[in-house]
Amino acid sequence: MLTIDHLSASYGNLQILHDIHLTVQPGERVGIFGHNGAGKTSLLKCCVGELKPLLGSVHWMGELVNASRVELNVRRGIGFVPQGHNVFKDLSVKQNLRIAALMHEVSKLDDVFELFPILKDRQDQRAQSLSGGQQQMLALGMSLMGRPQMLLLDEPTTGLAPIIVKEMLQAIHQSSLSHGTSVLIVEQNVQATLAHVDRAIVMKQGRVIFDDDAKKLREQQSLWHLF
Ligand SMILES: Nc1ncnc2c1ncn2[C@@H]1O[C@H](COP(=O)(O)OP(=O)(O)O)[C@@H](O)[C@H]1O
Ligand SMILES: [Mg+2]
Repeated sequence: MLTIDHLSASYGNLQILHDIHLTVQPGERVGIFGHNGAGKTSLLKCCVGELKPLLGSVHWMGELVNASRVELNVRRGIGFVPQGHNVFKDLSVKQNLRIAALMHEVSKLDDVFELFPILKDRQDQRAQSLSGGQQQMLALGMSLMGRPQMLLLDEPTTGLAPIIVKEMLQAIHQSSLSHGTSVLIVEQNVQATLAHVDRAIVMKQGRVIFDDDAKKLREQQSLWHLF
């Protein structure tokens, strides 16, 4: 359902993605790993139309992903949670979720509260009073309000305590299983993530140098220096 073909991309004269081929099937969970600067964020940006391909293409459900039309691509079912806690800090938890719902036609507050009960308890509290992990849960919850068919997640657990990392990854996995959502997740917490994805991709200097079962990456210790 997501097909990336011969994709290259650049910022100005600096080419940062080189000839990427990648497909993500319905319901499939794929982890993207690699050092800082490997091009992981740029790849996600191409998938949601925030970064325009230099060469090649990204197709979603058989149609070209519109470059520079992020909102259109989001409406077509691509949920994107950028790095950092992207929430409206001065608004309450519930207001944040309602705003996210306004941007879409479908919404289900209860689903998000079921996934993250702590958000239900704190629904009237201002987002800025939440912990980093709770804000990240809220950012994920906001993107789930649109019932995406694919979730693009950029380092959703960076900076969180190990126990919260586990909780987040489990919630993402659970949500994907319940709704058949595909997941493309960039992560620094490689070991923890490998337990929750089907496939693993390793990037190096703008290229995909490994694309196979998550299990194989767990076994192939010779590749671990790459992330
Ligand atoms: N907005 C930008 N303008 C210019 N160069 C950028 C920009 N964003 C990222 N880069 C460069 O592109 C390369 C890939 O970055 P990025 O996709 O953010 O990698 P990663 O997410 O794997 O750390 C890096 O060399 C980075 O410095
Ligand atoms: Mg990044």
